[in-house]
Amino acid sequence: MMFKPKKVAIVGASGLVGQQFIKILEEFSFPIEKLSLFASAKSAGKSVLFQGNEVFIQECTETSFEEGFDVVLFSAGGDVSRKFAPIACKTNALVIDNSSAWRMDELVPLVVPECNPQDIFFHQGIIANPNCSTIQAVVALQAVEDLFDITRISYSTYQAVSGSGYKGINDLHRGEEGAEPLFYPHPIIHNVIPQIDRFLDTFETYEELKMRQETKKILHKPQLIIHSTCIRVPVLNSHTVVVHAQCKNVIDQEQLIQAWKNNPAIEYIAAPDYPTPLRASGQDKVLIGRLVCDKDDPTFVSFITVADNIRKGAATNAVQIAMTYFKEELQ
Ligand SMILES: NC(=O)c1ccc[n+]([C@@H]2O[C@H](COP(=O)([O-])OP(=O)(O)OC[C@H]3O[C@@H](n4cnc5c(N)ncnc54)[C@H](OP(=O)(O)O)[C@@H]3O)[C@@H](O)[C@H]2O)c1
Repeated sequence: MMFKPKKVAIVGASGLVGQQFIKILEEFSFPIEKLSLFASAKSAGKSVLFQGNEVFIQECTETSFEEGFDVVLFSAGGDVSRKFAPIACKTNALVIDNSSAWRMDELVPLVVPECNPQDIFFHQGIIANPNCSTIQAVVALQAVEDLFDITRISYSTYQAVSGSGYKGINDLHRGEEGAEPLFYPHPIIHNVIPQIDRFLDTFETYEELKMRQETKKILHKPQLIIHSTCIRVPVLNSHTVVVHAQCKNVIDQEQLIQAWKNNPAIEYIAAPDYPTPLRASGQDKVLIGRLVCDKDDPTFVSFITVADNIRKGAATNAVQIAMTYFKEELQ
């Protein structure tokens, strides 16, 4: 049984994630009393079809939330979230935010429903959706943690251009036509760019810091040692993450595979087959493959995860948070 229909707003409705929000709400038959769409002044007046009806995008302003929403889904970047999420909260709306603005705030739960659904209920108005690469990695790592107690993780990512929104996709297409990039610091076509987001004083990038901090918060394991190297590749959609995990306990490969197979959010693909971005795109499952238990160290395991960064890495995870939250109304 579903919960009672909600008044839903999307901020960033014209963007890559915002457009996917609209599709996912429809696909998941999310009960909606009213859907309102917001973006910048640039998109105001454009329309989108939702459940066969035309819905017009409005400019997001300080008064946009006054009519009262049950939930506001933000996907318009950190600055917009920092400015407008507190305003939406004041009207008693539940905010689910896709940007990095609130993720590490102690009062804001950071949730992947397959890992820490219980954290949702500690919210004080805002629930944060994690970084796209972090989401797929922790969906896979939760079983490793539960079974073998992780002590150290190393991530290497191969991230698609759609992770940068329309600007990233545009640069890939420009490259295909021989034009210079407008968004990335180097051409992305025929290239690999070892920089995602800005560099910090430590020479780590902000994307790498996000993966480290967010993994610890979601797994409730602040003492974890995590290394991360994040790389942009000329793939249109779906990120790949190479995960190396050191555990306290000896890893039982069959037990791990069984735990992944028992998880409906995961598709485990055994060698010599393996996941690819093309295979992951358009679906919500986290694909896991290339599992190798170290021959010299029985407490060390490596594997890859591949998932659609716009779906499970963003819109799907946020809608799942909302559905988990509102389903509680029925208990
Ligand atoms: N792409 C991913 O894989 C992914 C994954 C996880 C999280 N996220 C996060 O989701 C957010 C959106 O990403 P995206 O990929 O969808 O980017 P995008 O395609 O560039 O879309 C950005 C959206 O933000 C809106 N916007 C910009 N300035 C605004 C303002 N002042 N007021 C209201 N709306 C404004 C844009 O509206 P206009 O079109 O009118 O300018 C557009 O709807 C970002 O915070 C990103 O970090 C993205």
